[in-house]
Amino acid sequence: MSVSFNTKHLNAFIAEHEYAAIYPQVAAAHEMLEAKNGPGNDFLGWMYQPRDYDKEEFARIKEAAKKIREESDVLIVAGIGGSYLGARAVIEAVKGMYHNDVDDGLKIYFCGNNISPSYLNTILDICKGKRVSVNVISKSGTTTETSLAFRVLRKFLEEQVGEEEANNRIYATTDKARGILKQLADSKGWPTFVVPDDIGGRFSVLSAVGLLPIACTGIDIDALMQGAADAMARFSKLGPDNDAYKYAAARNILYRKGKQIEILECYEPDFTLMNEWYKQLFGESEGKDQKGLFPASCIFSTDLHSMGQFIQDGARNMFETIVNVKNPVSDLYLEEVEGNFDGLNFLANQNMSVVNRKAMEGTILAHIEGGVPQLLIDVDDLSAYNVGYLIYFFWRACACSGYLLSVNPFNQPGVEDYKKNMFALLGKPGYEELTAALEAKLK
Ligand code: PA5
Repeated sequence: MSVSFNTKHLNAFIAEHEYAAIYPQVAAAHEMLEAKNGPGNDFLGWMYQPRDYDKEEFARIKEAAKKIREESDVLIVAGIGGSYLGARAVIEAVKGMYHNDVDDGLKIYFCGNNISPSYLNTILDICKGKRVSVNVISKSGTTTETSLAFRVLRKFLEEQVGEEEANNRIYATTDKARGILKQLADSKGWPTFVVPDDIGGRFSVLSAVGLLPIACTGIDIDALMQGAADAMARFSKLGPDNDAYKYAAARNILYRKGKQIEILECYEPDFTLMNEWYKQLFGESEGKDQKGLFPASCIFSTDLHSMGQFIQDGARNMFETIVNVKNPVSDLYLEEVEGNFDGLNFLANQNMSVVNRKAMEGTILAHIEGGVPQLLIDVDDLSAYNVGYLIYFFWRACACSGYLLSVNPFNQPGVEDYKKNMFALLGKPGYEELTAALEAKLK
């Protein structure tokens, strides 16, 4: 089984009758999803997307990726939130966090996901004198961070290669018909790719939003989609053995017992951005109506030397979900060192992955002693297929989990408030009254 939910360390925290008690609610959540009659039901396009995706566009994505790889040294991707995290997460999980240094071909950099001038200047410095292509990704076409970065990127491209050639190097992923980005793209002749109407940002990585940047790195997007399709076939069936639903049930049982924080953990640093993707998926889906599990993350053993103390011994309001990657991309055989100067010869004559595994097992047992429930998600490896599989596992679990909490898992009304204040403080026309009120508060 490529991905499975493993409850072997949960026995001290959740009894069988608790799973049985919550099961009717899981069944009700499943029925709402399948009947498309629950809150947010106009954003369920992800549910059967791994089967029903637009094959014609998929072929265009592959062609565009081939062209970009042949004609560019660098691809700059501008996008934020759901229009950013999934692509970067998949690329780093499958190709490694140092893929730009390891790969001979195309380098890929992400911007438009913050408003730091230093960050953007660094990317422009890296790209000077190189053959650059740009993929701007925004469903609305109006997101400040992305639009600002894209404005700078266009000017940079035009200065480097002239306006006509710049227009040959820009690819826009946006709404199929609406919005200023779509209008601009059409007027300039940029190829466009679609963010489907019925798919929200955090569920969009298997649309053109994620697929174009991912394909540009040479990752096999057929394998990625196949993994998601196989997971879809498995996790869209109701039953007590549905691991995605069982994971959703376990986290909700623990939440009701006062465990308000979930820490997603992995012993592979290449999973760092997948952690970030998970935080957006669950945080934006569940954190509303003054409810929700707070999604946090750690990479171990790194963070055992920072957060380990708190997890072992601090407030008992959390549980840990460990993504257990069974096979690393590569291993390293540890040899004996003459003289044993560092006292580590007891680790010799075996692979380093064994040491990593023992660190995981030891930590799990210590944290159970510390009263922290341990959930395991076993994954064979971080191949494109299994990452696709894992993405769908989390999607199904998240949708079910949101309905178990009685929230709408598919909206994000809370993200508008900071934007209003930011626009007011920046003097955007139409915000004058709010500007005065906020400036008074800042005095
Ligand atoms: O999940 C979401 O909806 C958000 O994270 C959006 O993806 C993010 O705000 C970017 O929006 P847009 O694609 O419209 O630029």
